[in-house]
Amino acid sequence: MRILIAGAAGFIGSNYVRFVLSQHQNAQVVALDKLTYAGNPENFAAFDGDSRFEFVHADICDADAAGEALAGCDALVNFAAESHVDRSVMDPAAFVRTNVEGVRVLMEAARTHGVKRIVHVSTDEVYGHVPEGAAGEDARLAPRNPYSATKAGGELLAMSYFTSFGLPVMVTRGANTIGPHQYPEKVVPVFVTNAIEDKPLPIYGEGQAVRNYMYVADHCAGIDLVLREGEPGSVYNVGVEFEVNTVSLAMGVLELLEKPRSLMRLIDDRPGHDYRYSLNSARLEALGWQPQYTFQRALAETVQWYVDNEDWWQPIKSGSYREYYEKNYAARLAQSRPLTG
Ligand code: NAD
Ligand code: TYD
Repeated sequence: MRILIAGAAGFIGSNYVRFVLSQHQNAQVVALDKLTYAGNPENFAAFDGDSRFEFVHADICDADAAGEALAGCDALVNFAAESHVDRSVMDPAAFVRTNVEGVRVLMEAARTHGVKRIVHVSTDEVYGHVPEGAAGEDARLAPRNPYSATKAGGELLAMSYFTSFGLPVMVTRGANTIGPHQYPEKVVPVFVTNAIEDKPLPIYGEGQAVRNYMYVADHCAGIDLVLREGEPGSVYNVGVEFEVNTVSLAMGVLELLEKPRSLMRLIDDRPGHDYRYSLNSARLEALGWQPQYTFQRALAETVQWYVDNEDWWQPIKSGSYREYYEKNYAARLAQSRPLTG
């Protein structure tokens, strides 16, 4: 199978490249990425020289480049996206372009080239805040921030290519994912890298928001199973059940790194913060998927990777990231409160 992996230089995309090349000896990977601030070619430097791997530096919104890269491919897995909620609140424009228009361009190219299996990678955030129970695939979509709204738009558009044109599209909606190579803007790498540097861990609101953190290898295995055995026209949730709030997450990180709890700081909340996500993944489990990592193991592996790979994240944190960090955190941290009780 020759697979075009779009967004392959990012966190989950690069882990998926690794997954495919290690699990499927006959696979050929075309890794396409625009290399935005979140894309890092070092994430797949390990495959330079592997004859089964090639990199195409391109924007998914560029129809000619997307078409050229897809020619001869049997499959497409689309990870390419603007992916961070806080940035989407600051500036939604790039999210609409890549997460919606980029999907249209890819689906058109896939139609033209007769691609046989397509997975569009979406997120649990399209269900919005889930106060109780777990969202099944038929639950109402109720995204509440520009990131999740554009992801909902993108996946609905992708699926419309199945209903309107018979394009074999499947959608996955994954839970919060953690592991190696995650850009230090999502909560786990922010907390881990800050703790390593004895900097404060900025906790939004009262720190009671709940997420289901899943190890990236489990997410990749779920996506790969859908690619190979999913039903075209279907949506698959990919999530774990274990619920963790932000304070418990911060404490877990600090314990693993043997750092003091006094590093935890409560800061002004994210606007429109979704306080709970929860997925029912029975449909994917029926295909044979089961997560292999407990939350404790996933967090421990992730923390250890950041401890062992400062040369990966230190250059990021000292570059343009600093501007983002200042903008998102500086004023809020100046007025932060310690955790009491
Ligand atoms: P990421 O931000 O680490 O990576 C995104 C990649 O897409 C980057 O390499 C970036 O350069 C590339 N990209 C952005 N715009 C592009 C464009 N116009 N053309 C080509 N490439 C472009 O994101 P991630 O965390 O790896 O997420 C990957 C996908 O998984 C996204 O679609 C995201 O919505 C989804 N997802 C992420 C999570 C999570 O917890 N991280 C959970 C569920 C679903
Ligand atoms: P994040 O990693 O941004 O993922 P999501 O897209 O699911 O919101 O945030 C996960 C949770 O952690 C969410 O409840 C917001 C919270 N959070 C903090 O408390 N502090 C932070 O610095 C960040 C980035 C997130």
